[in-house]
Amino acid sequence: MKKDFLTGRELREQDIYHLFDLTKTYKTSRRKKRFTSLLKNHTIGLIFNKPSTRTRVSFQLAVEELGGRALYLSGDTIQTSRGETVKDTASVLSRYLDGLVIRTYKQEEVEEYAQWCLFPVINALTDFLHPCQALADYFTIWELNGTLKDIKLLYIGDSNNVCNSLIIGADILGVKIMVASPENYQPRDEVLSLVKNRDIVVVDTDPLKFVPEADVIYTDTWISMGDEKEVEERKKIFQPYQVNKKLLAEAKKNFIFMHCLPAHRNWEVTDEVIDSKNSVVYQQAENRLHCQKSLLHFLYSG
Ligand code: CP
Ligand code: NVA
Repeated sequence: MKKDFLTGRELREQDIYHLFDLTKTYKTSRRKKRFTSLLKNHTIGLIFNKPSTRTRVSFQLAVEELGGRALYLSGDTIQTSRGETVKDTASVLSRYLDGLVIRTYKQEEVEEYAQWCLFPVINALTDFLHPCQALADYFTIWELNGTLKDIKLLYIGDSNNVCNSLIIGADILGVKIMVASPENYQPRDEVLSLVKNRDIVVVDTDPLKFVPEADVIYTDTWISMGDEKEVEERKKIFQPYQVNKKLLAEAKKNFIFMHCLPAHRNWEVTDEVIDSKNSVVYQQAENRLHCQKSLLHFLYSG
């Protein structure tokens, strides 16, 4: 049976640790050019209805370094932009391709592709979730700490797709996640209803309550793709949530600063923090490539 990666819930805790080990191998062997032929004779389509730097480039490379071919399909150039249905598109692409990576607006659209496609479908970000990001983020924390046991992750800002996927990942992996967001921008039932162990998620409006105990401090943009109409309003509401030196005054000395990127520098995070020695944002971005190879390995082997 084909496997999809739509919410992150497709992976159990033991699968994730298996992927982490595999990711380490892919990461260390990359420069030795010892690529596998896992995707030989496979063509994977990349449909992007929103901009992307990291996800697009890392998936294209991951597919090609595993011996496959990646076909970039910009959303505005395919017939879905003129109203062709997902069912027709997926049914036709099923006769050409061997997989689809999709970035779009509605989570339901990715799920509908998965329903009609005869091959694996991977969620490369929707308004609701960004599971590939969370996979690489937890790998990065594990890589730096050697374990996820007793890790406390503080997410500050808008409870968006990235925050939702970090919550789901925390639930699977048993990581404690603290979310500090303004009222009306806190995690919704839509995501909380997917959480099995509600004790692992704590939500408050005040980031300072959580800063001293956080091992990882994570933020993301206040204006996700699709939220552009609310820029001025959001800038005002989120200003107290800017991750800056003052907000971090009581933080642990060795906390890790994370951001999925792209960052709006000096909005949600100051240069001083994102460029500090605590910041691991480029390592995090690099790990997208290695983790996605493991994910493809999981989806295409056995
Ligand atoms: N973090 C992330 O998904 O970045 P891109 O939007 O550049 O793909
Ligand atoms: N929350 C951001 C993530 C970008 C990778 C967005 O959806 O725009």
